[in-house]
Amino acid sequence: MAKTIVILGVTGTQGGSVATEFLSKGWNVKGITRNTTGAAATALASQGIELISADADKPSSFTNVFSGAHVIFAMTNFWQPFFASFAELSKKSDRATGEHSYAVEVARGKTIVDAAAKALEEEGTLERFIWSSLPPMKKLSGGKYTYIYHFDAKAEVADYIREKQPKLWERTSLLNMGFYTSNMIKYGGLMGVAKDKETGRYMMKKPGKNTAVHPLVVTSDTGKFAELLVRTAPGKNLLACNSMTDYASFIKLWSEVTGVPCEVIEVSVEDCDKAAPGGVGREAGESTACSSEFGWGQREGTLVLPWEIDPNLKLTSLREYFESEDWEAFFAKQDE
Ligand SMILES: NC(=O)c1ccc[n+]([C@@H]2O[C@H](COP(=O)([O-])OP(=O)(O)OC[C@H]3O[C@@H](n4cnc5c(N)ncnc54)[C@H](OP(=O)(O)O)[C@@H]3O)[C@@H](O)[C@H]2O)c1
Repeated sequence: MAKTIVILGVTGTQGGSVATEFLSKGWNVKGITRNTTGAAATALASQGIELISADADKPSSFTNVFSGAHVIFAMTNFWQPFFASFAELSKKSDRATGEHSYAVEVARGKTIVDAAAKALEEEGTLERFIWSSLPPMKKLSGGKYTYIYHFDAKAEVADYIREKQPKLWERTSLLNMGFYTSNMIKYGGLMGVAKDKETGRYMMKKPGKNTAVHPLVVTSDTGKFAELLVRTAPGKNLLACNSMTDYASFIKLWSEVTGVPCEVIEVSVEDCDKAAPGGVGREAGESTACSSEFGWGQREGTLVLPWEIDPNLKLTSLREYFESEDWEAFFAKQDE
């Protein structure tokens, strides 16, 4: 009989990829959404995915959502509460929005973890709990970078599983998604590629040395990383990336594919803060600066790369990723 995976964020980027991968492997796929009748959910249902209505802000809605699950893929979205409250909270201080979203993300994580632990205790059938985590950057940087709330909140949830739900921890693997390759399209002048209005030249501004190597992930491969964690023993702390690459090489490849030159410019975290005040520029800037300076935990020796677990894992190359995007639409937007 087919095994069952229950996916958080099934209507989104990470969860959607996990659903596609496990459907293709013949699994029984269930997905959690707050809106089972929305367009995204309806499209998933037509592919054979069973939608479950639940909201991580409402712990009571998580009763029994994981019943029958052999695998749970769990993620939370830091940026939704961040941007929903930014206009109001950023007036108070440049930490207020990050602190709020940190608290929301940790509370959501605990709701999900407690429900998964309960399902394991009651049914005993859960084989793997995958937590979409990120490393504790404040700790890794020795307290130098303290605004990277979207990493530290996910790391706190990982600590919660280990400390408060040890039985679940025995069946857990952590999936740390690297920086999305698609950030360069989504985040324009800050961390992305953008056309300079005065010179007409393309540039990417980012903190940290141009030679620093970062984990870059093609999000459509999320399902492959999750599948890797299901078919191997638990206890992994996976740095999910398609390539460990510096941004200068990344953009050089982009220029080769698009035929458009682009300069990568080193900026400071303060420059990011000035470009996007209120905490958002600092949070984004610190994450790249910290990655550049301290890495993601490689020095601590706890992280493992996908190809170290399975040298034959077929992942999308950066060139294939670039070739898959609609650059005509991207360039047209730059001229608007
Ligand atoms: N950008 C990067 O470089 C990067 C790198 C690593 C990690 N990340 C992290 O990735 C996360 C975002 O993941 P994504 O890209 O997959 O997001 P996404 O595409 O925006 O999808 C978000 C998903 O979360 C679900 N969701 C939101 N609030 C919920 C709630 N209260 N209860 C249940 N489900 C809820 C949504 O489902 P419904 O709307 O259907 O309910 C949706 O499926 C962020 O936390 C970010 O920090 C980003």
